[in-house]
Amino acid sequence: MNISIVGTGYVGLVTGTTLAELGNTVFCVDIDENKVERMKQGIVPIYEPGLEEMFLRNIQAKRLFFTTDIKEALDQSDVIYLALPTPPGGDGSADLSFVLSVANQIGEMITSYKVIVNKSTVPVGTADKVRAVISSKTDIPFDVVSNPEFLREGFAVKDSMNPSRVVVGSSSEKAKEIMAKIYQPFTNTGVPIIFMDEKSSELTKYAANSFLAVKITFMNEIANYCEKVGADVDKVRLGMGSDDRIGHRFLFPGIGYGGSCFPKDVKALIKSGHDEDFTFKILEATEEVNKKQKVILVDEIEKYFGTLKGKKIAMWGLAFKANTDDIREASSLDNIEILLEKGAQIVAYDAIAEDNVKKIVGDKIAYAPDMYTALEGADCLLIATEWSEFKNPNFELMAEKLNNKVIFDGRNMFSMEQVEDTGFYYKSIGRKT
Ligand code: UGA
Repeated sequence: MNISIVGTGYVGLVTGTTLAELGNTVFCVDIDENKVERMKQGIVPIYEPGLEEMFLRNIQAKRLFFTTDIKEALDQSDVIYLALPTPPGGDGSADLSFVLSVANQIGEMITSYKVIVNKSTVPVGTADKVRAVISSKTDIPFDVVSNPEFLREGFAVKDSMNPSRVVVGSSSEKAKEIMAKIYQPFTNTGVPIIFMDEKSSELTKYAANSFLAVKITFMNEIANYCEKVGADVDKVRLGMGSDDRIGHRFLFPGIGYGGSCFPKDVKALIKSGHDEDFTFKILEATEEVNKKQKVILVDEIEKYFGTLKGKKIAMWGLAFKANTDDIREASSLDNIEILLEKGAQIVAYDAIAEDNVKKIVGDKIAYAPDMYTALEGADCLLIATEWSEFKNPNFELMAEKLNNKVIFDGRNMFSMEQVEDTGFYYKSIGRKT
């Protein structure tokens, strides 16, 4: 099949590459000329394990193309995926201006039947809005389908090539058949394709992300309570997760959830609720708890030293989670802001996300070339991202470099046994200090 992907951000690029890998001819469209030019030269604009290889393979096989010319791409395509940003507007609701402006262009440009597939995370009712905009511009028949994306950053290639399910919201039989054909390589291997109406499909995406945000936040509260009563959250987590109605995944406590999805989607669902005179109490509480959780260790550091003024804090990890350079809504940024406000200095190390942080924080903090250099002359270590390289450090070397043997671990990187005989003061989340 010939497919256009409009928007080559995270979701668009991974989706486009995946669809090419499945044998389709894919035209990726973006307004950013520079980016398109670099992609044509084989440069992947994002950091994502495994993507470059698949990207280059499909360019070479002449299944993956890049253009700024939307008309040229649409003319050659049967199906048009929209993978456009839906950033939170001032009131928290998803801003649909990119999606609707491309819908407008599609309405003006199409000359034959097309299926328009919405991959962006959009509020319930967006498919209807896209349909209305396109039909105000053309009499050519078309269908609008909702097909949310469930991939995780850092595992995007793995997730998109091995999806847990494919959700398709469509009220048109013709469009359903086309979507079933596109995803046949997955359904042939047992991946379920779940058809539903557009609104249910749109809500599925928000419900899934919000549920996961609640799950993490619930666990963070359990962890905080563990500390009050002297229980160990690792044990509680294992005991709970063994019930397969609960499951082991997404039960890891830490310094809150971040990223470009959970915070934005929780906010947008709350706002959509308000628009219908409906209050998502559980989501409002989740937001509030998560906000505090992100900086929960700042209080602990302050308590430990009496004051943060003049203290030098080494920070390991800046990305919102491991295996990504993404720092959107990263807990590290909230910690940096408050620590600086309280008079501390920060030396951070994150080989992958450093450049992105520099763009925002600049030289308000210092950056170290490796994890041990960051510790030199620092009063304590704060771990903000769970990069694998931090998992089994040389504690003796750490003790030599740090002024004090003190670790505040926002990601529960070490087992209690690991730190037991090192002489370090070790404060993690939901476990004994
Ligand atoms: C999330 C969802 O997991 C994907 O299914 C979804 O497709 C994606 O959003 C999206 O809407 O595009 P992502 O934001 O890449 O994916 O990251 P996650 O791996 O879900 O992590 C989100 C946050 O939760 C991170 O800050 C992570 O550190 C935190 N987290 C995750 C925890 O604190 N504890 C856990 O047990 C799991």
